[in-house]
Amino acid sequence: MAKYRIEGGGRIGGELHMHGAKNAALPILAASLVPATPSVISNCPQLSDVDAACNILRCLGCTVIQQGPSVTIQPAADHGGEIPDNLMGEMRSSILFLGAVITRFGRARISYPGGCELGPRPIDMHISALRKMGAIIEEDHGYLDCRVDGRLTGCEISLPFPSVGATENVMIAASIAQGTTILHNAAREPEIVDLAGYLNACGAKVTIHSDSTVVVEGVESLTGAEYSVIPDRIATATYLCAAAITGGDLLLRGVCSGHLAAVLPVFEEMGCQLTTTRHSIRLKGPERLLPAAHIKTMPYPGFPTDAQAPFMAVACLADGNTIFVENIFESRYKQAGELIKMGAKIRLEGRVAVVEGVPSLHSASVRCTDLRGGAALVVAALAAEGSTLIQDVRHIDRGYERLEENLGRLGARIIRE
Ligand code: EPZ
Repeated sequence: MAKYRIEGGGRIGGELHMHGAKNAALPILAASLVPATPSVISNCPQLSDVDAACNILRCLGCTVIQQGPSVTIQPAADHGGEIPDNLMGEMRSSILFLGAVITRFGRARISYPGGCELGPRPIDMHISALRKMGAIIEEDHGYLDCRVDGRLTGCEISLPFPSVGATENVMIAASIAQGTTILHNAAREPEIVDLAGYLNACGAKVTIHSDSTVVVEGVESLTGAEYSVIPDRIATATYLCAAAITGGDLLLRGVCSGHLAAVLPVFEEMGCQLTTTRHSIRLKGPERLLPAAHIKTMPYPGFPTDAQAPFMAVACLADGNTIFVENIFESRYKQAGELIKMGAKIRLEGRVAVVEGVPSLHSASVRCTDLRGGAALVVAALAAEGSTLIQDVRHIDRGYERLEENLGRLGARIIRE
């Protein structure tokens, strides 16, 4: 399996243009199944998760052409709605196809989604919402058999938790349902807004209200559209973590600094100097990092759970303790054990992780546990003394475009083996 060998000690600095957001591209690609005519998605990140989503579209009868950051999708006329297990198992976000497949083909047969090991990843909210819209969904030995007679029906739905994926599935399914769907306690992530932008470009009528309510007025059909995906706010935060931990001076362009409103103040609390415009962020890391007293992950606009692991790596070298509280996923500290192998001092207690800063980290042989946990190991290795071997970097390939190439250009000594 692919590995990174990283020689720590260099500063990460220079200039980089940010790639498109994985977590916006994936629901938009799923939604592109619904229109009867082609869509062209630009600024699409070149990632293994995007390849997996394109392969699912191909399995569903679509013609998909990937040309760098541009993906053209010609949807199928009809299809049985069956997605092969291996493709469903490749990533969590394959569940996002459920709403699109049911609403487009009237039937679907999928196995339970795979993805990162972040604790139980139930899909109860997805299923109950789609059932409320009239889908008949039977769970059968790890498969979901879904069908709907005629069209789905718009209705009022309240999510018990602002689930990003459940919000996206409902928005896509409701776009051509009969009548209006009102979704309460919807997720408010920028990726939700981006999906609404794509759906509306296709002729849907999606309105996002400030009270976390999404209203979708069902239309007869959608027509494909050209749409550009927003920048990746989590990859942005990750590269900034690399500059922060190495005392570098990094300028990121093509970002949306407004999407990091809960993240940038934490860098400043840790002693970093920030200069931001609407579409650029420059970070100068300090010689010695200060601790961030508390980092609590919350639904947007709170601190994003996906940035927790890279920030944990940075906190390992702060001059004091940082307390993390992971409120979104049950088990999202798997990277802690690997960071401890590099000399970090981390104590875990359920959803709480206490990171006691140490003067230095040392090299080790470590293994990626999941996508963002793997990114945390890269951030730590860039500042560790000696040569760190990071195994199973395929996890990282899911969410970071050309990471080793970009970091190499920014001063890292990194080799992919
Ligand atoms: C999306 O995952 C993102 N993935 C995740 O990013 C991100 O961490 C997460 O939202 C939270 O922001 C994509 O967009 C492809 P959720 P999703 O539904 O939709 C529970 C990354 O690293 N839940 O908001 O799966 C769930 O178990 C990935 O890029 C239910 O209980 O997240 C979790 O504890 C990781 N029942 C919480 O809600 C459900 O039916 C939040 O999950 C659905 C979710």
